[in-house]
Amino acid sequence: MESIYGSKEPMMRAILDRLLQQIEKIRKNLEVQVGMDPVDHVLSRIKNEESMREKCRRKNLPETVESATQRIYDAIGIRVVCSFLNDVYLFRKRIMELPDIRIVEEKDYIRKAKPNGYRSLHMILQVPEGFYVEIQLRTISMDTWAALEHQLKYKKELGGSAALIVEELRRCANELASTDVSMQTIRDMIMEER
Ligand code: GTP
Ligand code: MG
Repeated sequence: MESIYGSKEPMMRAILDRLLQQIEKIRKNLEVQVGMDPVDHVLSRIKNEESMREKCRRKNLPETVESATQRIYDAIGIRVVCSFLNDVYLFRKRIMELPDIRIVEEKDYIRKAKPNGYRSLHMILQVPEGFYVEIQLRTISMDTWAALEHQLKYKKELGGSAALIVEELRRCANELASTDVSMQTIRDMIMEER
């Protein structure tokens, strides 16, 4: 079966590489300016064949290159995991300042968490070649929570304890969020001392 990205895949990989380079540059610049690397780690991926086809079906779209690259916005995905809360917003600002990119959509699940407790800042960008890129910005705490929640999402056999697990997860998300605020405060105090 031909790839759902058809002949576009090499270009998508090149776009991803270019964005990753731009992100590294932002990171280096912030490190010089702020005196600390704001990023813990960066992950990226081209959505795999199977997930993309599944997403097309879920959204009632034909399984075509057009759907995968123009109707669905996360074929190209980048996750920037920051150490501290303020770094997320600092990074967001720098991404918005990138030349040539258009911000198509932004969802701030940090200011307004999802009902399950999920937090992250999502941005959909469009690059000059017309492709879309989803960038997720979050702290280490948010990332840890999302990883655990993601594992449980596929454990459909949670059975009778499901409601309790959901509630406990939400509680953890809230505790982590308040810890993120405290950690930020501590860092601010350390920076002021310098
Ligand atoms: P789709 O793109 O159709 O999935 O829905 P959407 O556009 O409303 O997505 P949204 O921007 O809310 O989320 C997109 C991505 O964020 C997902 O593919 C996940 O990587 C991540 N995400 C969103 N919500 C959750 C969540 O509750 N838990 C976890 N672990 N990840 C989430
Ligand atoms: Mg989406």
